[in-house]
Amino acid sequence: MEETYRETLTIEPLALRDRLSLKASDENRQGEVYPEYSEEMKATPLHRKFYIESYGCQMNFSDSEIVASILMKDNFIPVEKFPDADLILINTCAIRESAEQKIRQRLTEFSKVKKKNPDALIGVLGCMAERLKSRLLEEEKIVDLVVGPDAYRDLPSLIARAEDGQKMVNVLLSREETYADISPVRLSSNGICAFISIMRGCNNMCSFCVVPLTRGRERSRDPYSIVKEAENLFDQGFREVTLLGQNVDSYSWKNEVTNESVTFAQLLMKVALIHSDLRVRFSTSHPKDITAEVILAINKCPNICSYIHLPLQSGSSAVLQRMNRTYTREWYINKVDTIRSLIPGCGISTDIIAGFCGETEEEHFETLEVMDYVQFDMGYMFKYSERPGTPAARKMKDDIPEQTKNFRLQQIVDLQHRIQVINNSREVGKQVRVLAEGYSKRSKEHLFGRSSENKVVVFPEGGFKKGDYVNVKILGYTSATLMGEAI
Ligand code: 5AD
Ligand code: SF4
Repeated sequence: MEETYRETLTIEPLALRDRLSLKASDENRQGEVYPEYSEEMKATPLHRKFYIESYGCQMNFSDSEIVASILMKDNFIPVEKFPDADLILINTCAIRESAEQKIRQRLTEFSKVKKKNPDALIGVLGCMAERLKSRLLEEEKIVDLVVGPDAYRDLPSLIARAEDGQKMVNVLLSREETYADISPVRLSSNGICAFISIMRGCNNMCSFCVVPLTRGRERSRDPYSIVKEAENLFDQGFREVTLLGQNVDSYSWKNEVTNESVTFAQLLMKVALIHSDLRVRFSTSHPKDITAEVILAINKCPNICSYIHLPLQSGSSAVLQRMNRTYTREWYINKVDTIRSLIPGCGISTDIIAGFCGETEEEHFETLEVMDYVQFDMGYMFKYSERPGTPAARKMKDDIPEQTKNFRLQQIVDLQHRIQVINNSREVGKQVRVLAEGYSKRSKEHLFGRSSENKVVVFPEGGFKKGDYVNVKILGYTSATLMGEAI
């Protein structure tokens, strides 16, 4: 995948924050998620109550919205606090060991609920469920349900049997499941930005990555259901959709009866045509797969945002080969040059892994060099974490000492910080069109939103409200935020 991470995150000055340590409003939110629900959704004695907490990539958050929809059809209503729930679900991430450790800690906290309410059920969903399967039941005694990412339709019957005291596991992966017909219940939404899952799984075999093992084969969702979902969102007042997939460029849908086919670039245009006031974003692109058509679509439609998340992973061709990324340093640089020449000012962000198997100091410096050349607008940076079962774990030695990984990661983070400060300083004096998303965290007198290039912009409220497009003149900056005034 490149995983499809929510895009509001920027790195904090000089501090490395693993995606999992972010706050609920951030890209890799963690914590309670619940919809704002209407009067008729309020609990009656007949309702059972569920609580769901999500970790990891945006796709997981999106999946939790599908799970919520399935449960609410099964007479469950969401609650904000886990001690109030009859069913506690945790939608998990397995991408790095630290993610799994965090989830095990949370399970320990959830186990206290069982002391008070022995009938409460605890379910583990998502990638960690898929990776560990029934082993999770042995390792975490308090778990009643283990459900993989393609088995959520089975939740009502799994829950019913768990209520009878059985421990239930369904981790079957599917070649077809896209949940196309399920209307997600928008959990903890700002009512303006939504994520639409357009495909599932990943057919790439990046050697470090556990996702192909946990999310299975790639499959594309029916484009008509995607457009319908986006239209409904627009009618409800949403003004931005992000099309999500592990590798959106390989989206490919075909109607076997009519032979009609749709590529990712065509899908983008279909969604963009819904309304010029609906912004369209997408994530994630793969450097080997992003096409000229996608770049041209951004160019052609002003409401397709000028922003591409293009994971580099490493700036060394030798490391890229060991990672099985199937492109070289030169290929990557060439892609960036092409994007920049066709879409001047296009925002580009990236993912980088420090300390992959066998990475020499020279190879690490090659990563710093590419970062220096590209001048990414944003970066998500990690140290390599060996995942059992991946090609890297099977064939290569995780031989870079922890201290060296930390040191290299810090160098990468520091460089990215300096680049962002310089990039943002260049924005001063420019005018940007911002979609207001809500009040700034620091002050109710300021709104925040993002530019087409995905830069976070804060400005005085001045009679505007969330959902408005506002032209803002940039007057100041930090490494993560632009500050300005509406004009
Ligand atoms: N260790 C560290 N980072 C990883 N990623 C994926 N697998 C691993 C791993 N084993 C990173 C990649 C990917 C992002 C979502 O997570 O950079 O693009
Ligand atoms: Fe992304 Fe590669 Fe993992 Fe697929 S295998 S999810 S492309 S990092």
